[in-house]
Amino acid sequence: MRPAKVILYEVGPRDGLQAETEIVSAADKIALIDTLSASGLKYIEAASFVSPKWVPQMADAAEVMAGITRAPGVTYPVLTPNLKGYESAKDARATTVAIFGAASETFSQRNINCSVAESLDRFTFIMEESASDRIKVRGYVSTVIACPYEGPVKPQAVAEMARKMLDIGCYEISLGDTIGVGTPADVSRLLDTVLKVIPPEKLAVHFHDTYGQALANILTSLDYGIATIDSSVGGLGGCPYAPGASGNVATEDVLYMLTGMGINTGVDLDAIVAAAWQISDVLGRPPRSKVAVAKGRP
Ligand code: HMG
Ligand code: MG
Repeated sequence: MRPAKVILYEVGPRDGLQAETEIVSAADKIALIDTLSASGLKYIEAASFVSPKWVPQMADAAEVMAGITRAPGVTYPVLTPNLKGYESAKDARATTVAIFGAASETFSQRNINCSVAESLDRFTFIMEESASDRIKVRGYVSTVIACPYEGPVKPQAVAEMARKMLDIGCYEISLGDTIGVGTPADVSRLLDTVLKVIPPEKLAVHFHDTYGQALANILTSLDYGIATIDSSVGGLGGCPYAPGASGNVATEDVLYMLTGMGINTGVDLDAIVAAAWQISDVLGRPPRSKVAVAKGRP
C-alpha cells in the first residue's frame, strides 16, 4: 500500500514566507526559488495573488514570478482566492494555480472573507476561466482536523468539501491540518472517510508541525497510499489567519525519512539543506528542522 515514489510539493516560498513577520525581499524569494529549482523538486509553490492588505508578505507575487528562472519540468503554482487573483496569476504566466477553501465556516470567513458555499461559487468562476486557458487548478481544503475558532472538524465535512472541489475540476486536493494539531489517530479517521469518496492518487497531505506530529501523520498517510506530500524548506510556515499555527513540516525532514524508507522522490537532500540555510540566514535564525541543524551549514 505504501507508495514506492512520492511527489514532494514544496510550499516554503508561499506558505512559509507568507507567515514570517519580517517581509522577505523579492530578490531573496527569487534566490530561494532558484536554489530549490536545482534540487530535483517538481513543484515549488512560488507566491499568492491575494489581497496585499490581507497578506502584505505576498504583495510582490508578480515580481517574484517574473524574476525566477523557470527550470524545465518544474511547475511553479500560485494561490488564487478569486478571479482577480486568477487574472494576475495568468498575467504572471502561471501554469498551475491553487484555490483554497476550508472545512469549517469560521475559518473560511476569517481567511477568505466568505462562507464555504460562497467560496465554491468564487472557485467555479476560476474553473470556468482556467479550463479555456489550460491552466491546472489544485484545491486545498484547510482545517481538516480542527479549526482554530470552532475546534474539532468532522471528517465527513472534509470529505464533502474535498469532493466538491474535485467535482468542479481540481486535479488534486491537498488536505491541510492548518494548525498542526492532528495525531495519527485523527489522520486515520480522516482518511478512512475521505478515501471513500476520493482515490488516494487525487489526494495530497499538508501538515503543519505545531505539535510535532507531522512526520508521524505523513507515515500514516503513506500507509493509506497517499503519494503527494506538501512540505516547506527549513520548516518555514504558518498561516496568518490561524493563530498559533507553526511552520509546515520541513522538506528536509520528510526527505530524510522517505529516503531512509527506500521511497524515491528524485530530490537531493543536500540541495534542500543548502536552501534551508540560505533562507534562514535571510531571516536571521537557524532552520526549524532537525535535519538541516544536524547536517549543519553547508
Ligand atoms: P475581500 O476584502 O472580501 O475582497 O477579501 P474584495 O473583493 O471585497 O476586495 C477588497 C479589496 O481587495 C479591493 O481593493 C480589491 O481590489 C482587493 P481596494 O478597492 O480596497 O483597494 N483584492 C485583491 N487584491 C489583490 N489580489 C486579489 C484581490 N482580491 C481582492 N486576489 C480576499 C477577499 C479573498 C481577497 C482576501 O480575504 C484575501 O486575500 N485572503 C487571502 C488570505 C490568505 O492568503 N491566507 C493564507 C493562504 S491559505 C493557507 O495558508 C492555508 C493553506 O496553506 C492550507 C492549510 O495549511 O490548511 C493553503
Ligand atoms: Mg498551510
